[in-house]
This record gives sequence, structure tokens and C-alpha cells, in this order.
Amino acid sequence: MNDDRFLIRRAGPLQGEVVIPGAKNSVLKLMAATLLAPGRYELTNVPSIADVPVMANLLQAMGVRADRPSDDVVLLHVPEELRPEAPYELAEQIRASINVLGPLLARCGRALVAMPGGDDFGTRPIDMHVAALESMGAEFQLRHGDLEACAPSGLHGADITLEFPSVGATENVVMAAVGAKGTTVLDNAAREPEIVDLCHFLVAMGAEIEGIGSPTLVVHGVPVSDLRPVAHRVVPDRIEAATYLAAVGVVGGDITVHGAVAGHMEMLLRKLTEMGMVITDTGTGLWAKAPERLRSIDVATLPYPGVATDVKPVLTAMLSVADGVGILTENLFAGRFRYVAELVRLGADIRTDAHHAVVRGVPRLSGAPVRAHDIRAGASLVIAALAAEGTTVISDAHHLDRGYGDMATKLAALGVLVDVD
Ligand code: EPU
Repeated sequence: MNDDRFLIRRAGPLQGEVVIPGAKNSVLKLMAATLLAPGRYELTNVPSIADVPVMANLLQAMGVRADRPSDDVVLLHVPEELRPEAPYELAEQIRASINVLGPLLARCGRALVAMPGGDDFGTRPIDMHVAALESMGAEFQLRHGDLEACAPSGLHGADITLEFPSVGATENVVMAAVGAKGTTVLDNAAREPEIVDLCHFLVAMGAEIEGIGSPTLVVHGVPVSDLRPVAHRVVPDRIEAATYLAAVGVVGGDITVHGAVAGHMEMLLRKLTEMGMVITDTGTGLWAKAPERLRSIDVATLPYPGVATDVKPVLTAMLSVADGVGILTENLFAGRFRYVAELVRLGADIRTDAHHAVVRGVPRLSGAPVRAHDIRAGASLVIAALAAEGTTVISDAHHLDRGYGDMATKLAALGVLVDVD
């Protein structure tokens, strides 16, 4: 789907199957990790989303060759000599561009990464990345919008405690530590399934990492020349899986979500069950049914294993049509409620402050023109549109393409009438 408007008509109970591909927030980091060692990498279960070619272009700018022999496979040929520079036009398009920093420092001893527009050096959102890498021997300078990093005497291991279990900072530190001299102990590390996936990828390359999946990662550095390229299947996307569960939640029916891993979304599944959904682990995915109108609940977002901030927008859409009042508390990103004004246009009754949304469920929403401000905001509007009388027209639907491959086709397979124009 490369079109910019998504037209959705109110849906009846859903019926059918969807297949969940690899996770956006894993594949982009795995692609960055290939910079650690030359050779041919094969990534499978790659999602058909717009961010993958952007990351491929970013790597190509550094000298990597990227091929896509089929939709779900990316081949990367990393050269012996890299140009360790991530130019602005590409870096500014995706947050994950910052993840080239760790591997480039480890492999080349230097990196130049354009800062995403609007961010100040030294303050949020990459201060934790920078402080941790500085304690490993890196030096940073911000010049003309580019972050210049170098490790004049090479990177060395360090004892690091993150003040918050940042996903991106954990990934950068681990990728840097893999090729640093000595041992790095990273405390209060993020432990999302995508980070576990990255650690397994690095171990397959020859890295030595202990504590994978725990808040304390111990990385024993190895010479980067000992690392080798690998083939790897990307972990399934738990946020996409959650979005299809939300879809059946708001309009009823029963669906099978192939590839979804129950163990990666335990807290969320508990919450959806509290709302009245019946969800069964099939061993290869999830079977979900919503027999009646959902019940409202309170939910707080937290780092993994808490409920992910990325599913909060679809949960808000679910609560918009649930029975009762639910309170959503956002603990990761202050002000991540921009999509709420769009849900209100559809008839939702929601009040917000910086960290909370109080959602009073209404019996029905009504279709209207709305705008997707980001990926998850777009997903929230799709879920709400399923339960809205008439047609909802979501503009700036290209945001959906960044996180959801073939969404219109997948929804149609579940019985939803969708047009793109
Ligand atoms: N933070 C700092 N300083 C830092 C790093 C983070 O203050 O140096 C703060 C952030 O401002 C935020 C919190 O820490 O308040 C968490 O940020 P984190 O670093 O964990 O997030 P991220 O790595 O920037 C990834 C995902 C996001 C997802 C978050 C949280 C990618 C490309 N992005 O971002 O995904 O919301 O983790 O789980 O992996 C999405 O997919 O739509 C998306 C936004």
C-alpha cells in the first residue's frame, strides 16, 4: 500500500486468518548490526514495510549492497571498507538510524550520524546513548546537525547503568560492546523481545553475551575480525499482532493470528482477557474471539514486560467503544496522545493530560475524515473506523505503511471493506 488515503467502512464480526511477519523494531536493528562484520547476511521473515528500504538505503550509502530477492527476504553484502556516515536525508526518516552508531564505532572507530531534526544534542532523546558510549571511550561532537563520534583509543568495556531501560540505548551499547576490549556490564537494560532477537543475532555472529532477556547484560568483547555474517529469521511483530487482536475486539467475531507469540505479549493478553476477549495460544499463533461488547479497564504502559507504549493507541480505540470508563497512563513518552483529537472526531469521549487519558466508552462511533500523525496513531484510527457507522477516511495513511505491511489486504481477508486511494 503506497497510497495516501485509507477508506474503511464499518465492519461486521471478523472472521479469518492473518499472518504476522517479522518485527519492524527488530529488523531495522538487525540490519544495523550487520555493519559489525563484512560478508553476506540473509534476513528472512522481513516485513513489507516502508522503513526497511529506507534502512537499506542508509546502509547502501555506507557501501553495503542490499538485495530483496523476495518480499520477505533481505540480503545484505557488507564490504571490507565502510564509509561510516549516515546522511541527513536518510537518517532523518527513521529513528532506528541512530542504531548504526554502536556498530560503526565498534567496527570503524568513528561514525558520523545526522541527528534527527528538532533534537538537541545532550538532551533527550539520545543522551543515554551518548553517555553510555562515552563511558566506553567514545567522544562526541555535534557539528552542523551531524553527530560526530570517534573512539581514538578504541572502545573498552565499562559498567553502565541506564537511568531508564531505553530500547535504543540498550541496542547501541550492546552492539558497541560486542567489539569493545574487555567486558561491559549493562544494568537496567531494556529486554523487549526485539532486543533478545538482536542479542541472538549477535551471538550467532560470534559475540559473547550473557543474561539475554534479563535487565543485566554482560558482554565480553571479541575482536570484530572474529565476527562472521549469518542468516537469521526476524522475530514476529507483537505490535502488529496486537493490532489485529484489537480489530476483532471492537467488532467481534473470531480470528487466527498466525505467528503471534503469546510469550511476547503476556501482560497485554491478560488485559484483553479482562476486557472480555477469549484468546488461546495455538502453539503457532493466537486464536481470538470477542463474544460481547468489551469491558473498560485501566492500563499503564511500561517497558517490557509491561504493556508496550506502541499498543496504547489501539487500546485507546478499544476503550472508546467499551462499556464503562478506562484510564490509560503513559509512562514512556509524555504527550503521546496526539491521535486522541482524531478519535474524538469519530465521536470518542476522551480527556487527556500529559500522561493520562480518561476514556468513557460510547455505544458507537461515526465515520469522519481523520489524519494519521504516525504509525500507531494510524493503527488506532483503523481500529476505531471498524466500529464507526459509515465510512472513515484516514489521510496521511503512508504512516501505516511504515509499520504495517499489506494492511488493506489483511483486513479484507478478515471481511473488512477497505479502499485505498
Ligand atoms: N530516552 C531518553 N534519552 C535517551 C533515550 C531515550 O530520555 O537517550 C527516553 C525517551 O525520550 C522515551 C523513553 O526514554 O521517553 C523510552 O525511549 P526508548 O529509547 O526506549 O525508545 P526508542 O528506542 O527511541 C523504540 C521504538 C519505539 C517504541 C520505544 C519504546 C524503534 C525504532 N522504536 O524507540 O517504537 O515506542 O522503543 O518501546 O525501535 C514505533 O514502532 O511506532 C515506535 C515509536
